[in-house]
Amino acid sequence: MKKTSIDLILNEHRAFESVLTALREFVDGIAAGRYTADFGLLAAMIEYVTEVPEQVHHHKEDEYLFARLRLRAPDAGPLIDELMRQHARGPKLTAALERALIHYRNAEKAGLDAFHNKVNEYVDFQWQHILKEERELLPLAQERLLADDWAIIDAAFLTNHNPWRGVEDEYAALFERIVSLAPAPIGLGGSSANQGFRTAD
Ligand SMILES: [Fe+2]
Ligand SMILES: [Fe+2]
Repeated sequence: MKKTSIDLILNEHRAFESVLTALREFVDGIAAGRYTADFGLLAAMIEYVTEVPEQVHHHKEDEYLFARLRLRAPDAGPLIDELMRQHARGPKLTAALERALIHYRNAEKAGLDAFHNKVNEYVDFQWQHILKEERELLPLAQERLLADDWAIIDAAFLTNHNPWRGVEDEYAALFERIVSLAPAPIGLGGSSANQGFRTAD
């Protein structure tokens, strides 16, 4: 069966959420003394959550899905404005995460609390964003958009249809590195069981 852009959006959300969950669980575990800090892994996770939404996902929502819905459903304007403001806020939060990670790396334990807070703030923010899209925007899009709109949106989303491998496989190595470095049960971390990461269907 042909994949629609709704399936692709949901699949991209699940890939993003798996890294968000892994980041939160790993930092919670460091704070609780269950894991040792691995700055290479933390940097890779932050690189993924910085790059993939920006390079793969948000611009397609803004330029195609949101733009077509704005035409067909003028009453969705405030919701679309809010989601676009959240897209614009993402890079500021990931820049703050990166600064907090550098501080943690330099200050060691003294920087952990601030970094932990930034991780929680970022993960909560993105979680709410995804929920808002899935509970409010996507149902409205399914109700109001026409076949011509979907043809345009599908074409845009199909240009990079596999978020598990990234744009032209650009993020494949990064995702694989996160999975292999993350300690079990979050990732593989030397074990053969991988329960923390969802895998592509
Ligand atoms: Fe979004
Ligand atoms: Fe999204």
